[in-house]
Amino acid sequence: METVVLVIGANGQLGSVLVKALQDKFGINNVIASDLRYRDGFKGQFEIIDATDFERIQEVVETHKVTQIYHLAAILSAKGEEHPLQTWDINMKTLFNVLEVSRLNNIEKVFFPSSIAVFGDGAVKYETPNTAYLDPATVYGISKATGENWAQYYFLRYGLDVRSLRYPGVIGYQSLPGGGTTDYAVDIFHKAVLGEPFQCFLNEDATLPMIMMEDAIRATIELMDAPKEAIKTRTSYNLAGTSFSPAEIANEITKIYPDFKIEYAPDFRQQIADKWPNSIDDTAAREEWGWQPEFNLEAMTKTMIKELKAYYNLIPA
Ligand code: SER
Repeated sequence: METVVLVIGANGQLGSVLVKALQDKFGINNVIASDLRYRDGFKGQFEIIDATDFERIQEVVETHKVTQIYHLAAILSAKGEEHPLQTWDINMKTLFNVLEVSRLNNIEKVFFPSSIAVFGDGAVKYETPNTAYLDPATVYGISKATGENWAQYYFLRYGLDVRSLRYPGVIGYQSLPGGGTTDYAVDIFHKAVLGEPFQCFLNEDATLPMIMMEDAIRATIELMDAPKEAIKTRTSYNLAGTSFSPAEIANEITKIYPDFKIEYAPDFRQQIADKWPNSIDDTAAREEWGWQPEFNLEAMTKTMIKELKAYYNLIPA
């Protein structure tokens, strides 16, 4: 059976980059990108889908004979706090729709992203283990922790092959994040390259787990490619790239832009960050399907600056 992939949330920070990687892997005609709105200039197959609409997902799955679904649509940690109940409704309704459509159409594999936001005060902050206690403090984190359990339920009850990663903050030059607590670590590079000062909404010592986009995409594809028997963790896998604080990233940027200036004006997002791990233990991912990150903070910084300079068309610093 030919693989046909549906990506829900294809305009997002991760989705827009993942779609390209999946097109390279499966062929441009075998990837159906979907989101609430069409994306100008998009190359490939695109369907408008509001993932709260079960019938619409069902229709697209039938029309294109979809065999795999990547469900990336969600309202993130910071944005989600504006309207907690609405965030819960959207994050859960879209997940249930994807799980049900997948079950009813014998979808071969489903990807559901979870997050470091599932952790709260009940988990140790340093090298947080995969099996740590989950007491998330944001509605986004609650929806992800709950979603992980539903993913496992569909696997155990119906044999649906749902796979999941707990992404750290994703850092990439290809796209912009929206509504998250780790978004500062993308924005900071844009400001540095443009020669502008950066106002950080977290404290200088707010260390959080992060991952380079390239590593996040490769992790997703490696997880989805792994043999079914290898996937022993059916809630979600901890995934680590590197961890750093705003002061550490600023220091790394200063090595390339000595005049770079940062000031700290922590807002409500600092309280969200306070509940999250400083670093992640991803032994299960390493042992069960061979996960290995490539980018540390230095490599991330060099790549971000090089690529954003090209994007903004600036001459070398
Ligand atoms: N980057 C996400 C957020 O900040 C974490 O999953 O919400």
